[in-house]
Amino acid sequence: MAETQEITLDDIVALCKRRGFIFQASEIYGGIANTYDYGHYGVLLKNNVKDEWWRAMLQERDDIVAIDSAIIQHPRVWEASGHLEGFTDPLVQCLGECKRRWREDDLRERRPEGELRCPVCGGDLSEPRRFNLMFETYMGPVQDEAARTYLRPETAQGIFINFKNVLQFARRKPPFGIAQIGKSFRNEITPGNFVFRTREFEQMEMEFFVPPGDATEWHRRWMEERMRWYTDLGIRPDMLRLREHGPEELSHYSSATSDVEYLFPIGWSELEGIANRGDFDLTQHAKFSGEKLEYFDQEMGEAYVPHVVEPAAGVDRSLLAFVVDAYDVEEVEGRKRTVLRLHPRLAPVKAAVLPLVSKAGMPEKARALYEELRDRVPAEYDEGGSIGRRYRRQDEIGTPWGVTVDGQTMEDDTVTLRDRDSLEQVRVPIAGLGDELAGRLEQPWRSPKLG
Ligand code: GAP
Repeated sequence: MAETQEITLDDIVALCKRRGFIFQASEIYGGIANTYDYGHYGVLLKNNVKDEWWRAMLQERDDIVAIDSAIIQHPRVWEASGHLEGFTDPLVQCLGECKRRWREDDLRERRPEGELRCPVCGGDLSEPRRFNLMFETYMGPVQDEAARTYLRPETAQGIFINFKNVLQFARRKPPFGIAQIGKSFRNEITPGNFVFRTREFEQMEMEFFVPPGDATEWHRRWMEERMRWYTDLGIRPDMLRLREHGPEELSHYSSATSDVEYLFPIGWSELEGIANRGDFDLTQHAKFSGEKLEYFDQEMGEAYVPHVVEPAAGVDRSLLAFVVDAYDVEEVEGRKRTVLRLHPRLAPVKAAVLPLVSKAGMPEKARALYEELRDRVPAEYDEGGSIGRRYRRQDEIGTPWGVTVDGQTMEDDTVTLRDRDSLEQVRVPIAGLGDELAGRLEQPWRSPKLG
């Protein structure tokens, strides 16, 4: 039985580096702080997280359409959205020795009463100043005020400003949603904790437009839906919770927000925000653009501005939660085994095809089987090193099934099928293996860490 250990973020960072999921960005130049590059398995895992989100948004229902909007939009978008004015954090700087910068609200949370001082050197702190988190840039060759633009701090606004296009071309009526995945940028004062908080990250956001009277009910439904998405993909339910924002915490646009939180190694932290944004965004963009952003209800014979319920998740943060939840260390025959018990649909590679030894026709047979299998499921062929080392490598990238070609295969066209979690090995015929594995991928799955 697996013996779960206390997991630290360092364990996760080390595994991600060792197995080529995530690297420090610009490493050969000494690295750039809190910025990461995704390697081969990281890309595959991230794609699977995004595919599962699209699947839940588009494939499993018919009331949501997709969009992919530009990262740089007209600067007026950010005036209308309130980001130019209000997307700020209170920045304080240490006036003592270390000169570090802090978010005053973070420091206040750590020390609710009394005078705030620098947590590192104990120095006095400057007066707080509102620091805007948007990255500025300039469109075109002239760097003047007229050319100033911003990298989007959320994908959501690209959805609101396309509301009219979608109504017209996708022929939708409320309740309906528009979903987007893409990069967002925030000049965070205190990024950190690996990919949990970075300045460049990916979001998966969906804006669901509903008749005003239905917003509270849809908000409730989306909280349920989103919690289920994580648990269906293997996150243990007791590692997840919903936390409602208090009035002082709510964003400028929101009348109610609940965060889906995961128990990360750094403690309970936000994975996704689910907000009731009311009619704030459409009303603001209508005001600033002069376009009517409303829906004309034929039956009622009147126009109204839909209200918006928004589940907004982070790709990188979800990936981190899936990896942390899957990470396990156990002892097998006196040796430590590290294994990522990922949901098979999330696993970067589904099947590893391994010849037992590099002789007696086994590599050729295994390679041919791999070429057949990869048409059905993402597969990998590996013949380098001892079989034990190859299994361990696959365990660490979370490959659910190991297919081993051995002496008996050469005689009767059967292989051993090894299960990543139970370590059980069964003998199965090669014929039908692709169907078998593709079928297994569609089965409901439960984390073996639940016992
Ligand atoms: N449109 C609403 C919105 O952007 P948010 O709570 O600021 O809401 C949504 O962001 C999600 O995006 C967060 O729950 C988190 O998963 C992710 N996210 C936000 N800032 C991030 C950062 N600096 N690094 C990584 N992920 C971040």
